[in-house]
Amino acid sequence: MSSIRGEFSSRFGFIMAAAGSAVGLGNIWGFPTQTASNGGAAFVLAYLVLAFCLAYPALMAELVIGRHGQANAVTSLQKLANNSIQKRFAFIVGFGGIICSGLILSFYAIVAGWMFSATLEPIAVISGSESATSWLGEQSLSRNLIFTAAFILLTVAIISKGVENGIEKWSKRLMPALLFILFALIAYVLTQDGAMEGVKAYLVPDFGSILDPNLLVSALGQAFFSLSLGTSVMIIYGSYISKQENLVSLGAYVTLIDVFIAFVAGMLIIPAMYVAQAQGVEIFSQTGELLSEDTLVFQVLPALFDSMGGIGIFIGFAFFALMSIAALTSSISMLEAPVSYAVEKFALARVHATRLIGVIVSVVSVTIILNFNSLFGFVVQLTTQFAQPLIGMLCCVFAGWIWHRGKLLNAIKEGNESVENSFFWKIWPWYIKFVCPLAIALVFINSL
Ligand code: PFF
Repeated sequence: MSSIRGEFSSRFGFIMAAAGSAVGLGNIWGFPTQTASNGGAAFVLAYLVLAFCLAYPALMAELVIGRHGQANAVTSLQKLANNSIQKRFAFIVGFGGIICSGLILSFYAIVAGWMFSATLEPIAVISGSESATSWLGEQSLSRNLIFTAAFILLTVAIISKGVENGIEKWSKRLMPALLFILFALIAYVLTQDGAMEGVKAYLVPDFGSILDPNLLVSALGQAFFSLSLGTSVMIIYGSYISKQENLVSLGAYVTLIDVFIAFVAGMLIIPAMYVAQAQGVEIFSQTGELLSEDTLVFQVLPALFDSMGGIGIFIGFAFFALMSIAALTSSISMLEAPVSYAVEKFALARVHATRLIGVIVSVVSVTIILNFNSLFGFVVQLTTQFAQPLIGMLCCVFAGWIWHRGKLLNAIKEGNESVENSFFWKIWPWYIKFVCPLAIALVFINSL
């Protein structure tokens, strides 16, 4: 049941909300793009291994810290600290995560704005308005500003309503719709010429490139981005889980759903690329590199939808509506991280905190839009390749080194009495203590 600070009302509600946070543009736009630019199936394999072996243990660390703390990320981490230095460290990690999620939201809202305009474009085509069609279809300052603002407003509206009536209710509706549309599109793509070549590129790895450091850095960054780690989001979502729930299996469901949807989205986009190529759209350069990374889906998919004849316009609408939905269930989690901190730390009303932070994020988004070439890539890289793995690693350090092992066991035992004798408890504490920090540090140092 809901307490004063809000709690997910059901297991399904939490899974949909956390999977909603995890599943987003990262899965449907980022993962296929990265796969295409990092050599196809080898990247997929590295991603799968890193997601299960590094990202899942790190996700568990964040969830258990949050559920034990029953508070925003800073307070939850500080509850584990044994002295004032550790407390300060907890503040840096928790607050760093909150800033990171706000920054991610500011660039994410821009890309989500592109999804919004691509959703409306087919409607403009049907209505016969050429000027609206070209305004919606071409990059422009006015279009980017308007749709980014619309996206942030929608995110603010949902978050103002709190956990059960906002986050949970909307995630439960939007996530199943997303899966349905995705499968319908795959069924169509696989019947098209060229699709099987794409399936091969996606599923048959070139083992020679699997240990390429660049590929590993990209795969790790993608796995952390995809599970929303290192942003304090999973700490705050963890704090809304009831102590009667089994965290180990909840975390596993969220990871499985996230990886599954990324995999399924790749199964749509990569074959769609080859179908578009078979129809004459230029996707790769002479040397085999992807021509345009950020806009890949805007290039490949409309070509695919056009090839469908009259129905393509409706499918195009459905697909980009799906992307917008996926983006929204993620952006609400990004906004919740700073909002929960502001509400609990400064005793602000939720509505006021949400609006205030919405305004701050909008200012950063507008700054990025106005300096797109110099800022967009920089903020993406700073947050996803640098801050997220680093903060995620520090959360593992908290759970593995600072938290007393007996107390950690008690926290994970709640809702899962028999965990002590499970396979999970035999390896996970070692994992977050040694393997995760070391592996993340290694990949990270390589990327520098
Ligand atoms: N996991 C989301 C995606 O794959 O699109 C992105 C994301 C959500 C990143 C929440 C960070 C975050 F805090």
